[in-house]
Amino acid sequence: MCGIIGFSGSLEAADVLVTGLEQLEYRGYDSAGIAVQSKQGIQSVKAVGNVGALKEKLKEKVFHGSCGIGHTRWATHGGVSEVNAHPHQFGKITLIHNGIIENYKEIWEEYGAGKTLVSQTDTEIAALLFDKLYQGKPEETIKKAVSILEGSYAFCIIFEDIPDIVYCVRKVSPLVAARAKEGSFVASDVTALIAYTQDYFVLPEETILVLKQDTLYLEDLDGNQVEPEMLHVNWDTTAAQKNGYPHYMIKEIHEQAEALRNTILPRIKDNMPNFEAEQIPDSIFKGIDQIKIVACGTAMHAGMVGKVLLEKRVRIPVGVEIASEFRYQNPIINEKTLVIVISQSGETIDTLASLRLAKSKKAITLAIVNVKGSTIARESDYVLYTHAGPEIAVASTKAYTVQIAALVLLTMRMAYVSGMSDIEVIKKDYELLKLAEEAVHISLAKEEEIKELTNILKEKEDLFFIGRGIDYALSCEGSIKLKEISYIHSEAYAAGELKHGTISLITEGVPVIAIATQESVYAKMISNIREVRARGALVILITQEGVEVEPSIYNYHLTIPKLPDEFTPIPTAVLLQLIAYYTSVHRGLNVDQPRNLAKSVTVE
Ligand code: M6R
Repeated sequence: MCGIIGFSGSLEAADVLVTGLEQLEYRGYDSAGIAVQSKQGIQSVKAVGNVGALKEKLKEKVFHGSCGIGHTRWATHGGVSEVNAHPHQFGKITLIHNGIIENYKEIWEEYGAGKTLVSQTDTEIAALLFDKLYQGKPEETIKKAVSILEGSYAFCIIFEDIPDIVYCVRKVSPLVAARAKEGSFVASDVTALIAYTQDYFVLPEETILVLKQDTLYLEDLDGNQVEPEMLHVNWDTTAAQKNGYPHYMIKEIHEQAEALRNTILPRIKDNMPNFEAEQIPDSIFKGIDQIKIVACGTAMHAGMVGKVLLEKRVRIPVGVEIASEFRYQNPIINEKTLVIVISQSGETIDTLASLRLAKSKKAITLAIVNVKGSTIARESDYVLYTHAGPEIAVASTKAYTVQIAALVLLTMRMAYVSGMSDIEVIKKDYELLKLAEEAVHISLAKEEEIKELTNILKEKEDLFFIGRGIDYALSCEGSIKLKEISYIHSEAYAAGELKHGTISLITEGVPVIAIATQESVYAKMISNIREVRARGALVILITQEGVEVEPSIYNYHLTIPKLPDEFTPIPTAVLLQLIAYYTSVHRGLNVDQPRNLAKSVTVE
């Protein structure tokens, strides 16, 4: 949460910072600000709202300088206001921060005597600390400060008396850096740097990064030079732009077939899933007696699909755990547990803490992650990267379907390795996975139909998703997608559970999106749909093509192509994403930047 950027080089810093912040805006958009070292000293501009609001303000105040820092905020500590916007300045220090300083009270008590704060933020207290410790040697100051600061942080700091240099340090919160012909760059995410270079590195924790106009370097807390481990992204600026689509979300929905191909194909050898290239040995699947899938939000919903697949095909117990719960519950895991953590960003704080907990208990850890070089990817024993490319919209779409694809591949490999499925069955699975991928286009072809039918949802206040098995997992995902971007209250229910209380909320005209793609429980689903119809529900039904459905049980009927039960989630997810997207569009909302949310949740 919060996007930060720093630059020292040959360009106008304000331009570089604002353009970079536009790419980082998905990390928070409560306020934005920049500070530039100019001939008149350090000058800052801040605005409440997104980077657009900052740009408006910058029209009134032009300043020149080629070194500076910029921040886009998701408020944690202190409300949404201009005084709480970053950069924060105290004495000779101007800084930006992503994270939370947990011991801000103690720091204030120890170092704040006689001082006055202008904001309600923990960050300003951190600036005070840096200023208090500063005696003309930035690196020494940072070393002392990090020995005092508790919590998570990524800081970019400029010192009033040291021109053209940005100093950076981080703990937990991400920072990547790069050198290009235009100068030295640092940012929360590589999307802000991609206009200048595709080669970058992740700033290791406990190192200080120094950005100068003509060079950058890293040193550890003992002053030793550290060689960065370079990474390369294989996408360019166009991948992180809207490319003619009105929103990132709809662009990303349309990118799914390609994302799926990019995720699946590199893992296929002789029509079988194969993880040799990522050095995931079959041996890790052999000695385990349980699997825990740990994640948050949409990634956790992908995990719920994974549980059904793995238990059905590998016959091993699988638990799906909400990371923020798992990390505090002393889970029963050991060296015979495979812990699969799933995260698009690879930075979600609770998922990361769960991974660390799993490792401390000697479990085998495997991460399904989209962002290359992210903390979760680097810290887990094994990584299966999804190749969705950058996902900018806060509502996760393509990252979800590729997570499901990765779980299908893992299931296939594990079913083969454990002897539960023979080679011919696995090869057939691969054919079916290709059909599921192609079915994305068939779901996308229903875009106009969904655009039309969602007109009836736009005025509704409550909505329900129901399903069984895999379709219950899809219901959870459909529901989070709809509520996060349309602000319509919605709940996902296991269809058979509805009678145990919630059916009292079904009255005339309440929409129920009934997902009935699973042949194995189809008849049961139809009974549940009849029950809500009998109480006046407005039913949008999703089934496979070719099944017999009585027209009296639905108001609208959407279909996916005929597929075996395990392969339906991908095309179904696309329909649900389109329902959420167009409902939000009809309500005139900011689809890509829903209120109160941020793409990457790096605070507890
Ligand atoms: O980056 P991650 O996959 O770890 O993020 C997890 C959730 O924060 C994320 O999936 C969130 O639920 C999405 N905004 C939902 O669309």
